[in-house]
Amino acid sequence: MRLVSSIAMAAILLLGFSHANSFNAEKKTIKEVMKAGMAGNTSLLKKVLSGDASAEEKMKLLDLLIDLVENDAPKGDETEWKMMAGMSMLTAAKVVAGREGAIDELKKATDCKSCHEKFKGK
Ligand code: HEC
Repeated sequence: MRLVSSIAMAAILLLGFSHANSFNAEKKTIKEVMKAGMAGNTSLLKKVLSGDASAEEKMKLLDLLIDLVENDAPKGDETEWKMMAGMSMLTAAKVVAGREGAIDELKKATDCKSCHEKFKGK
């Protein structure tokens, strides 16, 4: 439970700062986040996971994932959603900060199927 509550705290704290220095003026919907960052073989996420992304690209992915967690899930448990989307955001923040092993953590936290199964409607 300790890890889980730290993640929740980090998510809540980050939400407070979320748009202080934002790339996008308006909060993107989940679908927009998916299109702008996650979907396709040349996605921003793939680039960040490859290790070849610039600092700005990493920050852009983080910014998108902040929008993700600020949305409500179309279905499923809201607390669990904040936790799962929050974890993707937290690990993206760790990549931005250059934490060791952060790219592997981001990869696990952005697993398409495990999130879609729980929270994506038809
Ligand atoms: C943390 C949760 C989460 C993760 C991780 C995630 N998605 Fe999604 N994704 C969603 C949700 C929720 C929706 C449904 C949005 C809606 O219906 O409004 C969605 C929808 C989509 C859509 C449909 C968008 C549309 O216009 O209808 C695509 C494409 C997509 N995701 C791609 C991906 C890919 C590829 C990955 C992995 C690299 C991924 N997603 C990872 C939560 C996630």
